[in-house]
Amino acid sequence: MEIKLSPSILAADFWRLGDHISEVERAGAPYIHIDVMDGVFVPNLSFGLTVIESIRKHTDIVFDVHLMITRPERFIERFAAAGADIITFHAEATDMAGECIDLIRSCGKRAGIAISPGTAATAVMPYIDTADMILCMTVEPGYGGQKYMKEIEKKVSAIRSEAGEKLDIQVDGGITKDNIIRPVKAGANVIVAGTSVFSGDIQKNIKELTEKCEQL
Ligand code: DX5
Ligand code: ZN
Repeated sequence: MEIKLSPSILAADFWRLGDHISEVERAGAPYIHIDVMDGVFVPNLSFGLTVIESIRKHTDIVFDVHLMITRPERFIERFAAAGADIITFHAEATDMAGECIDLIRSCGKRAGIAISPGTAATAVMPYIDTADMILCMTVEPGYGGQKYMKEIEKKVSAIRSEAGEKLDIQVDGGITKDNIIRPVKAGANVIVAGTSVFSGDIQKNIKELTEKCEQL
């Protein structure tokens, strides 16, 4: 499967956000990953609709929006209108997962469903035919710069063997040049990387991460 890199702007320098996104585009990454946190579902705040609306005016890159918010059904239409292309919500954050997927689709967007490290793959198995993407968190959601949890690879493999190749499987958290091959071998094809993209030379980092996957 084609491997897609999704650089997480949580690790960007917000003074230079526009320049950083341009560099991501120039390096050929297909997505940017946009982490929205509400201080309730996760113990941290990030940014939301206003930032997405503002950057949408300047780029056509795919916006891969990761909602770490409680009861995401309240905000899906507004994130779609703000310019999200893929909207991923957490299975743990709602008792309306099926409805959330339908709502995202009815807005003409791609639907993702995420699970935190402690949530079993069985929580998302009912949605592998209706969702476009499953996100297996490889850190506890809430902060960038954490350590990759390799035990999540079992979950990725289980979902991949159940779903076949039609489903995108994303991993998010702690991914670097030194470990990116691991989740890809387990079956993930959309790879989020924050710190390892935005520390130092962005274009060089993206090139190196992409090359590691191509060597497989
Ligand atoms: C964590 C976020 C991640 C994070 C990844 O809650 O969902 O997307 O930005 O950052 P790194 O790659 O630094 O772990
Ligand atoms: Zn994320």
